[in-house]
Amino acid sequence: MPIQLKRLLPLFIIFIGLFLIVRHFLVPDTFGQYGHYRGDALIDNASRNLVHASKEDCHECHSDIQEKLENDMHASLSCLVCHGPGLMHVADPLAENIEKMSGRTFCGRCHQLNAARSTDMIYQIDIATHHTEKDNCIECHNPHEVWEGLE
Ligand code: HEC
Ligand code: HEC
Ligand code: HEC
Ligand code: HEC
Repeated sequence: MPIQLKRLLPLFIIFIGLFLIVRHFLVPDTFGQYGHYRGDALIDNASRNLVHASKEDCHECHSDIQEKLENDMHASLSCLVCHGPGLMHVADPLAENIEKMSGRTFCGRCHQLNAARSTDMIYQIDIATHHTEKDNCIECHNPHEVWEGLE
């Protein structure tokens, strides 16, 4: 072994030793219990409150709306896309426990003219200029009412 390496060897040993000591204190106890992650992360995640219902939950009480939506252009969307996570409302079905998102910015998330979106996939308008005579899109396009303008 060349003399330079012999001199560096103790330094390497000190570095590796330091690394192992620091690692010992920094790596959480349950790391690697099940795989390359902290085992306790499963307990942390399971203890978080659920907030999302499923659209099947909504269909149970709102089958009328479900039927309407099936004939609407929005048939492919889940109720939760426009009404929020919804579990609170499923547990306690009051109006104030559910959202009705409908503003120009909200609808624009999917419909704002965007060169990166294919117009074959989705109708697009410029929300800054499209029928600004009314504040809210749903005054003309209510997702739960057949809208005949676009047949
Ligand atoms: C257990 C039955 C039940 C389930 C499940 C349920 N709802 Fe409702 N929902 C109701 C009732 C009852 C009302 C009327 C509440 C009121 O007028 O106070 C309502 C009202 C609403 C409203 C109108 C709120 C308003 O401001 O007028 C929306 C929107 C709604 N539900 C969406 C949903 C969605 C989305 C889901 C699924 C996540 C869902 N509901 C699941 C019973 C239910
Ligand atoms: C594209 C967005 C969108 C989707 C998807 C959607 N909704 Fe709605 N929903 C709305 C908007 C916006 C309103 C408010 C309409 C209004 O105020 O006149 C509304 C209103 C409602 C109401 C109140 C109706 C009333 O007559 O007052 C209920 C109940 C409801 N939605 C349930 C559902 C359910 C159940 C689903 C899934 C099957 C669903 N919605 C999917 C946007 C949506
Ligand atoms: C998650 C994405 C998404 C959101 C949010 C959304 N839409 Fe749509 N919308 C669609 C898709 C997908 C279609 C059907 C395909 C297409 O547009 O070519 C559609 C179709 C439409 C159409 C044309 C068809 C028809 O039924 O008359 C109108 C108008 C429309 N949406 C208005 C709205 C309004 C108003 C809102 C807000 C309440 C809204 N959309 C929210 C995805 C969305
Ligand atoms: C005053 C009524 C009115 C309001 C408000 C309105 N629209 Fe429209 N929308 C129309 C009419 C009418 C058409 C048919 C094409 C036209 O005349 O521009 C249309 C067409 C569309 C289309 C289909 C475009 C196409 O390529 O065929 C979409 C998507 C749409 N609107 C979404 C929206 C959204 C999102 C909002 C809210 C930012 C909104 N509209 C607000 C009346 C309205």
